[in-house]
Order: sequence, then structure tokens, then C-alpha cells
Amino acid sequence: EPIKTQNMIAVYCGGCAFMSLPTLLVLYGSQTGTAQDTAQRIVRQALRRRLQVQALPLDNYNVVNLISESLVVFVCATTGQGEPPDNMKNFWRFLFRKSLPVGSLCQLDCAIVGLGDSSYPKFNFVAKKLHKRLLHLVLYSFFFSYTWIFLLLVSSEKTDDRLRIPAEQTVQSHSCPFPARMVSNRRVTDASHFQDVRHIEFDITGSNIEFAAGDVVVIRPCNAPEDVQQFCQLLGLDPEATFILRATDNSAVPTRLPQPCTVRHLVESYLDIAAVPRRSFFELLSTFATNELERDKLLEFSSAAGQNELHSYCNQPRRTALEVLADFPHTTSELKVDYLLDLFPDIQPRFFSIASSLQAQPHRLHILVAVVHYKTKLYKPRRGLCSNWLASLDPAQGEMYVPLWVKKGSLKFPKEKDTPVIMVGPGTGVAPFRSALQERIAEGKTANVLFFGCRSVHKDFYFRSEWEEMMEAGHLTLFTAFSRDQEDKVYVQHRVRENAGLLWDLIANKSACFYIAGNAKQMPASVSDALKEVFQQEGGMSAEEAEQMLVTMERTSRLQCETWS
Ligand code: 2AM
Repeated sequence: EPIKTQNMIAVYCGGCAFMSLPTLLVLYGSQTGTAQDTAQRIVRQALRRRLQVQALPLDNYNVVNLISESLVVFVCATTGQGEPPDNMKNFWRFLFRKSLPVGSLCQLDCAIVGLGDSSYPKFNFVAKKLHKRLLHLVLYSFFFSYTWIFLLLVSSEKTDDRLRIPAEQTVQSHSCPFPARMVSNRRVTDASHFQDVRHIEFDITGSNIEFAAGDVVVIRPCNAPEDVQQFCQLLGLDPEATFILRATDNSAVPTRLPQPCTVRHLVESYLDIAAVPRRSFFELLSTFATNELERDKLLEFSSAAGQNELHSYCNQPRRTALEVLADFPHTTSELKVDYLLDLFPDIQPRFFSIASSLQAQPHRLHILVAVVHYKTKLYKPRRGLCSNWLASLDPAQGEMYVPLWVKKGSLKFPKEKDTPVIMVGPGTGVAPFRSALQERIAEGKTANVLFFGCRSVHKDFYFRSEWEEMMEAGHLTLFTAFSRDQEDKVYVQHRVRENAGLLWDLIANKSACFYIAGNAKQMPASVSDALKEVFQQEGGMSAEEAEQMLVTMERTSRLQCETWS
């Protein structure tokens, strides 16, 4: 939605009527790469129209310069519960400072492209909020602009100071992950159970990694060796050949790649060949086609009219980029190593809730991972890249190192010793609560209630003996829901309803905090509904009052939710 359109018109009509065109700046905030891909598509469109253009993640851009920009497209995704992606978090904090005066961006012509998932309640929250904020900063007089230049300079120094502190401590991050030794990798579901779930333990001795309950670990996986081999075969590449990368005007050399680099390393740990390719992949691949039929098909997939067909060919069956390449054999002869970084995005890191506490297990970091396998109409079963890669690493076969770093999570647990916590975590949703329980018990916080749900007491009841020990010591009250051990399904929300009296007492009289985590799509909403019923039944509230209480709890962080799909 353009805020002012004068310069945008120059973009759309090709810009040839203007002698001196402004540089188009594309600033993006991307978590999984979709917004980045969209930004790069805008760059390609702009280059075709001979515009000067540059694309950057928002946090790599010196926000002080915004005051002198004339033409900017912001491309922003939304993550979690309405949060900005990691690579725009500093920009976000800065932009919402109260000290920035209204009207300070009076020169700016901009457009905002928002990417979101409409199944989330805070759909496209970041783009909407950015739009509102920029309107505020763009509107009104330019009277304040000098003031703001000053403020920007002052505040950016402060920002830099804050950034300098972690830099000095060399905190592990995406550019500097810590190679953590895998200590154990155990299946925690029964061999007869349909799902392979792993409890993985890493040794982080020697790192300065610190984390608290609710934090997450970030891991970037590698491609499977058989996929690497097939890719090199398709393209006729020698995996052991080495090359050196040089930066061009529009792209920098990825810092993660060694120089010189082998083809094997590039394909194994950088190119995302196992992901479902995006629309722009088809457009680029068409330029390599030596066969007309293949070129037309690829162009059709990249056109607006071909989106339904692309969806049923690629997105619905979860076809990978590697499989697409195999389907279009007349594209590979021209596809030299030089073009691979344009064609394939880099492998995205994955986030896992940390399942242990440093207070209970110093120098250790645990995760609980469901190994993802599923069927689509394609013959070969689909496999989640990261979970299968982790599951394939066997520390009994030799030392295995996994590069990782940690990041603050959205779940926060109360500091006050007497505040009780009620945690609802079916399946792998229990991971952050194991960390919370270990941490809280080590700190002498013993008012803990856990609702755990799984299919069967004998098949997927993770950490059973640990919960039993905590219960015996009087540190935990546990309620379990084994959904398939009887005829009718029993879920955690049923147990919440059954224990209405206890929950009401903890929440209304003891200010308890309530947490929900897990990956079942309907589960968080069903648990919230059960909680509202508890308020109505035990607190004598109307449906509206119960809803209002839930909203208030959420606003004051007494109700927190972490879900994934
Ligand atoms: P099910 O697979 O038998 O349906 C962990 O995955 C547990 O969460 C399983 O027992 C699973 O039950 C259950 N589960 C699935 N959907 C759910 C929902 N909507 N609400 C609560 N629990 C759910």
C-alpha cells in the first residue's frame, strides 16, 4: 500500500521518462526466507527496469540514513505471536521509540509488503503496525526533521553501544555458531509407536552460551548425503572441485562459506535443495532451459495465471527443488556452479525449545525432536530436513558436532518464588516445561502443575520417570491425558476442565501463570476455551467476563502460548 505514490509511479512505468531516478532501497525482515525471496524478486524487477536498487535485511541497514532516503520498499514477515523476524528486531525497537517525532520522515516515499499466515490471530501484524507507524512519522510538517536527525544520531550511538557489548563477549550467533558435541541421541517413543521422537543432549562446555527456561536453540541442518550426490550427478558437478566467490554489485559473498570452498560443502551445508522451491525459482530456472517445452512450463509456473497449477505440482505434494530439477532435465546442462547461489536460497536454521536447565544440568543443552515423516501423493515419503539430519547423527559412531546458538524465547517464567505455574504441554510441547521445571525446582520454586498429553502411557509418555521423581519430592502436580488408551479420546483440555476447582484457586487466589505449548493446531484454542469454562464455572463469570479475563491475563503475560506446526 503506497503511502505517497509519486516515485512509485516511476518504478511501475519503467522509469525511462526520468533523467535522474532515485535509488530504490528494499529493506526486509525475514524469518524463514520468504520475505527475503520476495525482496529479491523486487530487486530483479527493478534491475530489469534499469533502476539502481539495493536490498538489505533491516538490521544490516543504518537506520540513521532513512531520513535521507526517498524511495523504500519494506518487505516484512510476522513470526510467533505477532513478533518481528530476528533480522529486523533492532530496527523495530528503534522505530517505536517515543522520542522519534511525528513528521520526521517527510521525504520518504515508501511501500510496505506484508507476508503472513492468516491462520494466526495476529496475521500480518508487523506490516500493519509498521504501516501505521510510518504514516505517523511521514505525516505532518518537516519542521521536526532536524530535531530527528539529531535524535537519530544520539540514539543510534546508544544502539551501537548495546550492540557492542555482545560483540565483545563473542556470543554465539548465526555468524558464529558453537560446534556442540552430541552426547546422546535416544529414541523416547516405543519401537512400535508410529513416531520417532528423539531426546538429544549436547555438551556446550567451552561456549559462553547461557539460557533460561523458555529460550530456544537454533540449528542449521545439512542436506542428506544421498541428495548431495544426486544433485551433483544431475548437474555434472565434481563434488571435490573447489571455487572462490567474489562479491558483485548486488550481492555479497555469504560469510558462512569458506574460501576456497568445495562443491560438496556448498551443496551439503548451504544450498536449500530439499525445500519446496518458491515461485521465483521457476522463473530463474526457465532461463537455463534448452528445451522449449520445459521453458514454457517453467514460465507458466512462475506466472500469476499458473499459480494453481504450481500449487498442485509443487506445494501440495511438497516436491523438493531437487525433484523439480530432476523433472526438468533440459535445464541442468547450462547450470554452472556460478548460478547456484542465485537459484537456491541458503538452508534456513530451525528453532527448538530447549528442554533442560543449566542450573540442573550445567554445560548441557537438551532438545526433544519429533522426526518428521509423512506421505503425500508422491511415491517417496517426505522427510523434515533438520529432524532427520539430527536423527541420523549417532554419537556411538564417533564424535558428532552440531553448530548451534541460542536465542531468547517468548515464554517467560515468574521470578517470584511463590507464584505458581500451570503448564499445558502435550507431545513435544512439554520440552520448554521440562526446562522450566528443572530451573524452578533448582531455585526452590515448587508450585508447579503440568498437564501432559500423549497417545498411550506405554508408547510416548516422555520423561515419565523424571515426572514421577518430581512428584514424589512434592515439586510437581501432574495430570495426564492418554488420548488412545481407551475408546474415547481424552485430551489435555478435558483434564483442565476436570480440575477446574484447583485451577481457579491457583489463578484467582494465588496469581498463577498459565502456559500452553505444542504443535497441535486446534489444541491452544481448545485449552483456552476450557480455561474460560473454568472461570465461568468456578468464578461465576459470564462468557464475556471470562473472555475478558483471558485477554487481561494474556496482556499481562499471565497467559503465554508457544505453538509450532
Ligand atoms: P491424538 O493424536 O490421539 O489425536 C500429543 O500429540 C497428543 O496431543 C496426542 O495424544 C494427540 O492425540 C493430542 N492432540 C491431538 N489433537 C489435539 C487437540 N486438538 N487438542 C488437544 N490434544 C490434541
